[in-house]
Amino acid sequence: MKTRALLATVLVTGLSALAGTTIQDKKGSNTLTIHADQGRLTIAPEIYGHFAEHLGRCIYDGIWVGPESDIPNIRGYRKDIVEALKALNIPVLRWPGGCFADEYHWKEGIGPREQRAKMVNTHWGMVVEDNSFGTHEFLDLCELLGTEAYIAGNVGSGSIEEMQDWIEYMTFDGDSEMANLRRKNGRDKPWRVRYFGIGNENWGCGGNMTPEYYADLYKRYQTYVRNYSGNRVVKVACGPGDWNTRWMDVVLGRAARQIDAISLHYYVFSGSWGNKGDAIEFNEGEWFGLMKKTLDSDELLRRQIEVMDKHDPRKRIGLFFDEWGTWWNPAPGSNPGFLVQQNTLRDALSAGIYLNTFNTHCERVRMANIAQTVNVLQAMVHTRGKDMFLTPTYYVFEMYKGHQGATLLPHELSYNAYEYNGQKLPSLNVSASKAQNGTVTITLCNLDPNTEAPLECTLKGMDAKTVGARVLTAEAMNAHNTFEKPDAVKPSVFSAVSIEKGKLITTLPPMSVVVLEVK
Ligand code: AHR
Repeated sequence: MKTRALLATVLVTGLSALAGTTIQDKKGSNTLTIHADQGRLTIAPEIYGHFAEHLGRCIYDGIWVGPESDIPNIRGYRKDIVEALKALNIPVLRWPGGCFADEYHWKEGIGPREQRAKMVNTHWGMVVEDNSFGTHEFLDLCELLGTEAYIAGNVGSGSIEEMQDWIEYMTFDGDSEMANLRRKNGRDKPWRVRYFGIGNENWGCGGNMTPEYYADLYKRYQTYVRNYSGNRVVKVACGPGDWNTRWMDVVLGRAARQIDAISLHYYVFSGSWGNKGDAIEFNEGEWFGLMKKTLDSDELLRRQIEVMDKHDPRKRIGLFFDEWGTWWNPAPGSNPGFLVQQNTLRDALSAGIYLNTFNTHCERVRMANIAQTVNVLQAMVHTRGKDMFLTPTYYVFEMYKGHQGATLLPHELSYNAYEYNGQKLPSLNVSASKAQNGTVTITLCNLDPNTEAPLECTLKGMDAKTVGARVLTAEAMNAHNTFEKPDAVKPSVFSAVSIEKGKLITTLPPMSVVVLEVK
């Protein structure tokens, strides 16, 4: 892609020699050129994936209420959540962690629920985990949602035999101890398990390992993750957190041949790890800080992909951005180990930028999983008893659905700067794709909370006849939905767009996410 984020104080006069984009220093109009006839890369649907950990109220009292609950449910899964997730076409769901994965022993989560062993969830609030949601409950949920399963295995505190047994239990169709145990527990046919992670954050909560040690362990563990009965597992190595390119370099240097995909985690906030900032009470400086940090995901990807290219120039290995999103200080009054946070228009803009960035790098980024699905971090859904509300971030996923499986279209963008306190960011962030039926989806974020963005868009190689548009915006940067006002922030039809002489002419409201569907 030719879009380049020329950050901050870079003055841009004379930059026309650069291929593609310039920031205009004076306020003028923004222009976008999309090459509708030039795409060659597919945006993997899995980029729009999700992550559900045994953490706080994500699984229990979130997705899973149990079949006896008086909350409407389908065999124990909250009906409203199932419907909301189905509406997103979620392509893949990662489970059971996160940090939880490396202390999870799957055999404790099978058999009659009331007889399952209890454990302490030491990472997340030291609460007692009763294992009532286990392998059967997870894989049945994936079938119910029509989504691929992505299981994170236990390297930190689990054995190789345990990992081997798990794969056999889930996927072997023949006559073996594990397959027969599965049958005894009520499931005759194996499930499909497409993705299997060999550990999680093994540089931290997953065992505090060095990359050298992990790479050797990876090679041992993955050997026994077998392909049974036609099930072909994509094996995912634990990759780096944030900017740690050394971890990427060492793990790929030692184990690239055995790796199908490698993960990357990057969370954004506007303060520091120790004080990330409040989810709702923030000023424009904190808004700006989050936009900047989110835009940095582009540079992060460039650096990590550069290392991948060194070891895997033919781009066989996928980069799975399997944890991403905003992370704020815990909501007042909540258990700090439960990672409860509200979700505002600011989170929605951040999600829009992230997803545009993943699309841009789809040649390498073949999966991404937002953290996390329900009630935790940048959730899609919040629940309280029988009530629930969808978050602004949920609506971004809903608006971006057209990109799933579509062909990425190259573009050039020329944008005004968003200036705050002497610093500059690009005010616009964009992605475009073409679906098999020819529909072009364009997703646009106007990061500037004060200024609308007039935009002229040329579609090369396409005769645009109709355009449908929706917008997600609000009056305040911190607008959010609550149980009392669940519809405060939701998309609406966007009429400020027209086709004039083949060009799309529009003006994006300040702090907005817009989707255009062009035919
Ligand atoms: O998503 C919350 C936690 O963040 C995950 O458990 C861990 O992998 C990461 O540090």
